[in-house]
Amino acid sequence: MSVKQSKFLRTIVFLFQLVIKRIQKIVIDAVPEGTILDIGGGGEGIIAQIGRERVTAVDKFQSEIDGAKQKAPEANWILADAQNLDFSDGHFDSATSFFSIMYMSNKVKKEVFKEIYRVISDEGEFWIWDASISKEKGVFLVKIKVILPDQTVVRTGYGVSSKIQTVNSIKEMLEEVGFNVEIIESNKQWYFMKAKK
Ligand SMILES: C[S@@+](CC[C@H](N)C(=O)[O-])C[C@H]1O[C@@H](n2cnc3c(N)ncnc32)[C@H](O)[C@@H]1O
Repeated sequence: MSVKQSKFLRTIVFLFQLVIKRIQKIVIDAVPEGTILDIGGGGEGIIAQIGRERVTAVDKFQSEIDGAKQKAPEANWILADAQNLDFSDGHFDSATSFFSIMYMSNKVKKEVFKEIYRVISDEGEFWIWDASISKEKGVFLVKIKVILPDQTVVRTGYGVSSKIQTVNSIKEMLEEVGFNVEIIESNKQWYFMKAKK
C-alpha cells in the first residue's frame, strides 16, 4: 500500500470512528464575567460565540481563526502561540479554553498555563472544558453537542493521537503553576473545571 493510500485509509477510519462515537452533551450556562482570553479559540469559536466583544481569542493557526471569525466577528482574533503572549500582566479579567489543551503536549500545556496565570487579574479565573484521555495507542476521538446559553446547538468532534490527560493530571499541572482548582464536572470523556488565581 502506498503512503497516499494508507493516509487515505487512516482518514476513512478516523471519520468512521467519529460517526459511530456516542455524542457527549455539554451545556454551557455561562462564561466568565468581564474580558476573556480564550486559548485555542479558533475552530468553532464556541467561547467567542458566547462572550462576543468581551473575548480575545488566540489561536496559532490562521485557518482555525478564519473559520471561527465568521461566527463571532465582534471578538478580537489574534494569531499567536499561547506559550508567549504579547499582553501585560493582569491584562484580562479571566481566561477560558474549550477543547484546546488536548492538542498540546504536557510541556506546552505547562508554558501556556504559566502565561495564562500571568495575563489574568489577581481575582481572575481560568475555565477549562476538555477531554479526559487515557489512551496508550491509536487515536482519541470525542464527539460533542454543545448547548450555548442562548440555546444555539453546535455539533462537532475533536480528535488527537493517543496520550494520557486525566482530570487529575491537569489539576496537578495547574496547581504547580499556582492555581487553586475546583472540579465542577467530571465525566468519562470530558471535564469542566475552574482554576482560580
Ligand atoms: C479543537 S481546536 C479548539 C476548539 C475551539 N476552542 C472551539 O471552540 O471549537 C484546538 C485549537 O487549539 C489551537 N492550539 C493548539 N495549541 C495552541 C497553542 N500553543 N497556542 C494557540 N493555539 C493553540 C489549535 O490551533 C486549534 O485551533
